[in-house]
Amino acid sequence: MGTHLPLPQRHDIGEMKIIAIAIQKGGSGKTTTALNLAAALRELGKRVLLLDLDPQANLTQALGVSEEIEPNIYHALRQEAFEQAASMEALLVTRHGLDLAPASIELAAVEIELVSIYGREQILKPLLHRLKAPYDFVLIDCPPSMGMLTVNALVASDLIIMPLQAEFLPLKGVRSFMLHLEKIKKLLNPGIDLLGFVLTKYDRRKTMNRNVLEKLKEEYGEEKIFSTFIRTNIALVNAQEKGVDIFTFDKNANGAKDYLQLAQEMLAKM
Ligand SMILES: Nc1ncnc2c1ncn2[C@@H]1O[C@H](COP(=O)(O)OP(=O)(O)OP(=O)(O)O)[C@@H](O)[C@H]1O
Ligand SMILES: [Mg+2]
Repeated sequence: MGTHLPLPQRHDIGEMKIIAIAIQKGGSGKTTTALNLAAALRELGKRVLLLDLDPQANLTQALGVSEEIEPNIYHALRQEAFEQAASMEALLVTRHGLDLAPASIELAAVEIELVSIYGREQILKPLLHRLKAPYDFVLIDCPPSMGMLTVNALVASDLIIMPLQAEFLPLKGVRSFMLHLEKIKKLLNPGIDLLGFVLTKYDRRKTMNRNVLEKLKEEYGEEKIFSTFIRTNIALVNAQEKGVDIFTFDKNANGAKDYLQLAQEMLAKM
């Protein structure tokens, strides 16, 4: 059984915004958006922490860090749940001016290991509130499921950014996500809000599903859709394979321009 830990007050982080990059559909651009939006915010002088909460550890590898790194976020979550108040400082690594809380495949076990723990949805939140460095933003890369890891991210977050692949726009997936979100909002985190949908892998030569886009606007409001679209850009893939963000790889690439514009739009929205 887990012990009940008092929730610490945030110190010196009045302005720190925690943003979950989430949608349960795989391959939507969550990891690419977490990494390159964080890098764009870095370019704009913001202090950013990236948190990899996906057992696939794609974000960890996209920053050139081994997915076998120890300790990682799994160890901090375990300690927080089963032993005593944990700190994230010991597991943070810095790459290209971005701090990263890395993940490993072990993280997959959390879903099962937390089943018997009281307050299992709220393990991550105190860890983030105890952070000592004064970050402007924490961006959380969520796994493609609505399991305990994503729920922990949503309970800890102020805002959600939801990347959607422009060609497919999975309306059903969005609706089911929003139903979960309503429950989390009601029961666990009344302060959370959807900042917006970001259309990714946009190619103007391919027809976007305009009807679905219209429905999305109708259901959630036009202001919930970022006017910056992230174009399909192979440099984003190549950068990730090299273990760097798009600005470090090629700051003139369309991917760099799009993510910089997205960061500016995001800051203007807040
Ligand atoms: N704008 C883009 N242009 C070209 N390729 C992209 C773009 N955005 C993402 N990709 C590629 O599409 C694939 C899926 O993207 P990504 O890994 O970011 O999605 P994800 O939502 O994190 O996936 P998962 O749900 O599996 O975690 C990756 O290979 C990535 O490099
Ligand atoms: Mg991912």
